[in-house]
Amino acid sequence: MTKTKIYNDDSRQLSKFVKEKIDFIVFSPPYWNLRDYKEKNQIGKFQSYEEYIDSMKDTFAECYKVLSEGRFMAINIGTVVSNEGMKFVCGDFVKACEEVNFIFRKDIIWHKPKGTTKWQRGATQFTQNPYPLFYNTNINHEFILIFQKGNTNEKNKSKPFNKVFTRNMAYSVWDIIPINSPKLDEKHVAPFPEEIPRRLIQLYTNKNETVLDPFAGSGTTNKVAIELGRKSVAVEISKKYCNLIKKKIKNIKFNSYDQTDIYSKNIELEIKRVTDQIKKSQQDVKKNQLKLKKFYEKNKKKIKKKQLNLFD
Ligand SMILES: C[S@@+](CC[C@H](N)C(=O)[O-])C[C@H]1O[C@@H](n2cnc3c(N)ncnc32)[C@H](O)[C@@H]1O
Repeated sequence: MTKTKIYNDDSRQLSKFVKEKIDFIVFSPPYWNLRDYKEKNQIGKFQSYEEYIDSMKDTFAECYKVLSEGRFMAINIGTVVSNEGMKFVCGDFVKACEEVNFIFRKDIIWHKPKGTTKWQRGATQFTQNPYPLFYNTNINHEFILIFQKGNTNEKNKSKPFNKVFTRNMAYSVWDIIPINSPKLDEKHVAPFPEEIPRRLIQLYTNKNETVLDPFAGSGTTNKVAIELGRKSVAVEISKKYCNLIKKKIKNIKFNSYDQTDIYSKNIELEIKRVTDQIKKSQQDVKKNQLKLKKFYEKNKKKIKKKQLNLFD
């Protein structure tokens, strides 16, 4: 197989056309009733919540069919706020996956550090009415749900990770900065940060194995897979996004991502990796604060009227 295979099709039928041996599945699905991807067979928009869960269950069943025995599937999903009340999509996904025979193994919380998310309306209302019973939250976490097909655990074929990486990964809360403003050409795709599929691919595959993303969007998973020396399969309903994926991976070199930081026993390198990560987080927070400050300066009068003097 070529290193990346792109299918412009409906993930609810993927076992009909995905004939590759799949060693790991990772995705972020379309959210319920949020984005209109303008495709006839899109999942999410214009569906009732029950229809949405049924559609997702169809995809889970297809994923189960194509995944190798003993291997894993990771789903990145958050809760949904709606007029009907909060939807704890995770719970419904776990139930649906179990019904198609997956075993639910673990949940990881993706924590988006303070200052790196957009401020949500509900939370703003609370800051304007800071009284008991008006409480609301600025949701800055999502979940990563891990499922396994069957019970078998293979003997390890790869070299061990180093201590820093292992200890970091051993915690169930991951601090990762979200992508708030995708590049113009990726508008509306809602990409997840590369760090999510990267960590999961490192943790759940060996070199040269194949990763499937059944809701590939702009192809974040595929790009990262190539860089890590893995083959990948993309399924995406939108032709436009399939073209985006082609464009994104065109110049990406197979096995080009420097992974010495997760394997090297050299403590200096490990310290550098952690320091770089901290520096990057600090820079991102600073950038976000600057953006907010600019917004504040521009809308000072309006904000002052609302008594939200955040920077004074
Ligand atoms: C949240 S986005 C995925 C973003 C992706 N993780 C990235 O980083 O770019 C969900 C994607 O699912 C696609 N989609 C919606 N319904 C689908 C279906 N029935 N089959 C395949 N893809 C579908 C949408 O077009 C959208 O690109």
